[in-house]
Amino acid sequence: MTARKPLVIVTRKLPAPIEARMAELFDVRLNEDDHPFSQAELAAAIREAEVLVPTVTDRIDAKLLAQAGENLRLIAQFGTGVDNIDVESARRRGITVTNTPGVLTEDTADMTMGLMLAVPRRLSEGARYLREHEGQWPGWSPTWMLGRRLTGKRLGIIGMGRIGQAVARRARAFGMQIHYHNRRRLHESIEAPLEATYWESIDQMLARIDIVSVNCPATPGTFHLLNARRLKLMKPSAFIVNTSRGEVIDENALAREIAAGTLAGAGLDVFEREPAVNPKLKGLPNVVLLPHMGSATEEGRIEMGEKVIINIKTFADGHRPPDQVLPSMI
Ligand code: 8YV
Repeated sequence: MTARKPLVIVTRKLPAPIEARMAELFDVRLNEDDHPFSQAELAAAIREAEVLVPTVTDRIDAKLLAQAGENLRLIAQFGTGVDNIDVESARRRGITVTNTPGVLTEDTADMTMGLMLAVPRRLSEGARYLREHEGQWPGWSPTWMLGRRLTGKRLGIIGMGRIGQAVARRARAFGMQIHYHNRRRLHESIEAPLEATYWESIDQMLARIDIVSVNCPATPGTFHLLNARRLKLMKPSAFIVNTSRGEVIDENALAREIAAGTLAGAGLDVFEREPAVNPKLKGLPNVVLLPHMGSATEEGRIEMGEKVIINIKTFADGHRPPDQVLPSMI
């Protein structure tokens, strides 16, 4: 890339200060009306751009990458998950991929905690009742709207990376016991302050815990990690929370188990076929559904944008960008 400003095409509307700074630094093409790009629009963008800034809503697969122009050198994802990008295909074409790790850890962990409270304590149900029964609430009752207590319960975290650990820190403050399953066991210096128990076997962990939090990335290895067989291992009183990616859970199986009463409920911020939401989940009162809001804070989205800018600028200046994603990291 030369010293002149690189042509950067951004697929979605980003926070105003980020777009303003990009316009100063780069020859940037923004998406003023924030419409999601079609595959044809993405193909046109990568034929022309030197840098593409996509998000989770863009499918950058091998078929699309085959249409990339000579100039495309960098895909600077606005987001941490890169499951929408075929990173290996990009590497083979000499295209660097970066993401925005770290800056959305605390926000996503907060949202996970929010769902962990919302489902067992029936927050949505209670809020919905008041709005849908205007003037009909008879008042407090000793046995009405009872949920389940968090304190003392076993939390099973699947994927103990940055976000999983941030969830564990919060859950400790709520008096929960931390259990986790991860590709690798964590160093004792991380485990000890959390008093975390490592389970090499996800099956054995699932049978023993009260709330599962899904915090692993979507990869071929985690696709339907929570399938029908594994969901059946869980206690009927157990809940599931997912702020990672919908593909990690077999949603049809989840809906079946909850409808049958063999699972107590779920809090889902992500879905298998976003933006479609499985209609079987919508009908269940003990399922809280959110529209992929885990990292949706003004602070977080600005920090994500700043990371994108730093990655592009560093790359354009001829250095290795700080958040390069390699196929071996997936
Ligand atoms: C992002 C996310 O907002 O960063 C991620 O992986 O799941 C979201 O919080 C989204 O992916 C943007 O691309």
